[in-house]
Amino acid sequence: MPSRSLVRTKDVDTVLRQNDEGSDGGHHARLSKRLTAWDLMGFGIGIVIGTGIFTLTGIEAKNHAGPAIIVSFAIAGLVSLLAALCYAELAAAVPTAGSSYTYAYTTIGEIFAWIIAWDLVLEFALGAAVVSRGWSGYLQEALNLPTTFFGEKSTVNLGAIAIALVLGIVAAVGIRESKLVTNALVIIKVSVCVFIVVVGIFFVKAANLSPFVPPSQPPAEKASGLTQPLWQFVSGVEPSSFGFAGILVASAVVFFAYSGFEAVANLGEETKDPAKDMPRGLIGTLVICTVLYLAVCFVLTGMVKYTNLSTGAPLSDAFDQVGMGWASILIGIAAVAGLSSVILVDIVAMGRIGFALCRDGLLPPSVGAVHPKFHTPMRITLATTAVVCLLAGFVPLDVLAEMVSIGTLFAFVVVSIAVAVLRRTKPRMKRPFRTPQVPLLPIISALSCVALMAALSVETWIRFLVWLVIGLLIYAFYGYRHSRLATGTEPISESQD
Ligand code: ALA
Repeated sequence: MPSRSLVRTKDVDTVLRQNDEGSDGGHHARLSKRLTAWDLMGFGIGIVIGTGIFTLTGIEAKNHAGPAIIVSFAIAGLVSLLAALCYAELAAAVPTAGSSYTYAYTTIGEIFAWIIAWDLVLEFALGAAVVSRGWSGYLQEALNLPTTFFGEKSTVNLGAIAIALVLGIVAAVGIRESKLVTNALVIIKVSVCVFIVVVGIFFVKAANLSPFVPPSQPPAEKASGLTQPLWQFVSGVEPSSFGFAGILVASAVVFFAYSGFEAVANLGEETKDPAKDMPRGLIGTLVICTVLYLAVCFVLTGMVKYTNLSTGAPLSDAFDQVGMGWASILIGIAAVAGLSSVILVDIVAMGRIGFALCRDGLLPPSVGAVHPKFHTPMRITLATTAVVCLLAGFVPLDVLAEMVSIGTLFAFVVVSIAVAVLRRTKPRMKRPFRTPQVPLLPIISALSCVALMAALSVETWIRFLVWLVIGLLIYAFYGYRHSRLATGTEPISESQD
């Protein structure tokens, strides 16, 4: 029966049956089920460790937190872990391409599901663009390439466009290839973090770590107007750098370093045993990344006084400063390789979200068709890659990065709320993994995400709202009429259990 409601919901059992049978009119062949928990962690680490630890660590330690950047990373890691515990319940119960989008669709309704998906497109597309620009910057530095076409001073960032295009094609020809390439790059990336910690620890000086929390002071460039954090704008509190306020601002910014782990949840449909593998994959990814991040933060701020940290390539520069030039070059090359895996997994995740939207009729179904030979949603992957290339070529890195943080945090808020809502509206649903302490944990998770969002700039909030309005217009003029629930092609959920 067709429904005209904006909050029409999908039936969980229908969603799961569609996965098993590929019963969607023949447009979308089943994605094959072959990934294990280790594969999921490979994807997770591949997308999580990137410009956050390689670049933002130096910038935020220098500008906001000092050696206490380790505390900022711990706070951001904790917020991510709470969200991961929520994601794990839904990803195991509704193992399908589309992750939080599908969870919202089965719980709080279609319009919210669309908003989430639109938000995820923002997160992954802009994430891929940010890291492509970071990649281009590292390459420029390592090979001394012309700044007109590489790095942040470029007029057209050809380096960023080139890497996004190549990896978009790799993603489009198949998950198998993506997996092999990604796994190799993940090993390089984890090795370089371990190398930094194991070798760098010998250069740590206690004097560099003191004062651990530098005293509060006015920021060098006074953040004002639309560039100040939302909570300051609203409360009228004077902006400051360092001190405890500085640690919190840095937490919101370095949150970017954890964004992306939830892409693991998009691979539910391709996972052998989602009930077990999905929670392990999600939580394993976060635990490994948090441990590495904290260790790298400690060693970095112990090797070099925070005031002397580089804001361009802080990790390789630290080794330069202690007289280990060869290590610096090695780290630079590894960073270029490692950043590639972030771009790749972002693009793969983006294709999966698009696949789910087209399958459900919220976007034209033909766009999301699975390629008969490569078994990937090839058209939508290539279409979104084109958008990433445009953004990477022309929009500054910092503008894109803040947008990724706000988009990610917003999705986390919705997923946390959905866990609590679903426990009430569908108490008998099979939950292979149960988030502990519901509703307390999801509530704390949602509130802590909102707190970090409030530390982002007013400008970022405005851009985010504009993006949401554009999405709502697309929904009003296309999705609302064409979705499978609207046309009656798929039954709406009627059960309240
Ligand atoms: N978490 C990813 C990074 O740090 C987006 O680059």
